[in-house]
Amino acid sequence: MFRKRRFTDTNVRDYPADGTSVAAMALRIVASRPDPALISLPWSVPLEEWGEPYVVPLPRGLSRHVVRIVRLGDRIYAVKETVEDIAFREYRLLRDLQRLNLPAVVPQGVVTGRVDADGRPLPSALLTEHLRFSLPYRSLFSHGLSHDSLPSLVDALVVLLVRLHLAEFFWGDVSLSNVLFRRSAGGFAAYLVDAETGELRPSMAASMRDYDLTIATENVFAELLDLQASESLGQEIEAHEIVELLESRYRVLWQELTEEEEFSASEMWRMEQRVERLNDLGFDVDELDIVTDFDGDRVRIQPKVVEAGHHQRELQGLTGLHVEDAQARRLLNDLASYTAALGLGREDRHLVASRWLEEIYEPIAAMIPADATGKLEPAEIFHEVLAHRWYLAERAGHDVDIFEAAADYIATVLKDKPDEAISR
Ligand SMILES: Nc1ncnc2c1ncn2[C@@H]1O[C@H](COP(=O)(O)OP(=O)(O)O)[C@@H](O)[C@H]1O
Ligand SMILES: [Mg+2]
Repeated sequence: MFRKRRFTDTNVRDYPADGTSVAAMALRIVASRPDPALISLPWSVPLEEWGEPYVVPLPRGLSRHVVRIVRLGDRIYAVKETVEDIAFREYRLLRDLQRLNLPAVVPQGVVTGRVDADGRPLPSALLTEHLRFSLPYRSLFSHGLSHDSLPSLVDALVVLLVRLHLAEFFWGDVSLSNVLFRRSAGGFAAYLVDAETGELRPSMAASMRDYDLTIATENVFAELLDLQASESLGQEIEAHEIVELLESRYRVLWQELTEEEEFSASEMWRMEQRVERLNDLGFDVDELDIVTDFDGDRVRIQPKVVEAGHHQRELQGLTGLHVEDAQARRLLNDLASYTAALGLGREDRHLVASRWLEEIYEPIAAMIPADATGKLEPAEIFHEVLAHRWYLAERAGHDVDIFEAAADYIATVLKDKPDEAISR
């Protein structure tokens, strides 16, 4: 049916061979970094009917729309069928979130003008890059997540919501189903996956944040009851306690990140302490507002611009590794122990870091067997190896070498873990 193809950097059009109007028939792909292979997907078939060799068996969360995870060459995308306006709106919003450095899935493009073999129109499609090693919450539970981990899931959701709100993003549909979780040093990092109802605003009133928080608690409550009904989550969990935790942790974190604090001029250390507390929570203070009264004996401080990723940036600056913030913190701690153990405290930190990378981190990562690379990310394996070393040392009553711990971890623990990504 189609003969000519023309590629440009922002769109790809197909021209029908029979001379019918291009406007009526054109398949149009708007993409941020176009992947020419996108055109080869079976766009004239309803997404629901896509199968081999495109669709890959990666878990998906609950959704209103038809969503499929597809492989194209060595890249993996999520495709969602929806109406054109909504697809473009969500695409642009996800691009804005990327620009603001917020944790959300990365938009790839929108496909419109689809028709089936009989020329009947098909819905538009939004494509996003599949977030590697991410899991929908239901899969976490089916991978044996115990209810003790619920508070860390809640924390991850809270950090995401607070970060979005700090950027004046109103979500409108906060729920576990609209989030993807990545493992991070035993806890989780949450990413926004569904921005359909979202809106970036010039400023966001406290009442709108409250509204999002109310939606979050209602949805999470229902989702927990649902998990209990399907016996993925034990009955001993009180769903209302979990949503209360969600609300209180949100309020505590919001306050810590934004609240004004007043003290006397003789307590200036409180300024440094506040910054350290925020660093501890994984945030950098980019702008601190400091006001003194007329006599200069009272000081008021208020963080104005805070940015998540404190440990992440530090580790990346030292080693080039880009990992989740909690993983970065764990790696930085190991780097600190390494520095102390070798008495390298006076050396240049960058040099010590690259030595640690070469002597410790990379060799451990290289020990991961090829058939286990889809189980956990290297940084998460490193975290687990450190925990395993601690456990072995406790049992043995003496220190255990990290390589010995890694070998034991790989042989006894890692081998039984399920795949959580497609191996590369
Ligand atoms: N980029 C992506 N990476 C991984 N999973 C994705 C991605 N996009 C969508 N999904 C999966 O598809 C599910 C549904 O997507 P969502 O955008 O919430 O659809 P809907 O608007 O119909 O609710 C998500 O819960 C997630 O599991
Ligand atoms: Mg959704």
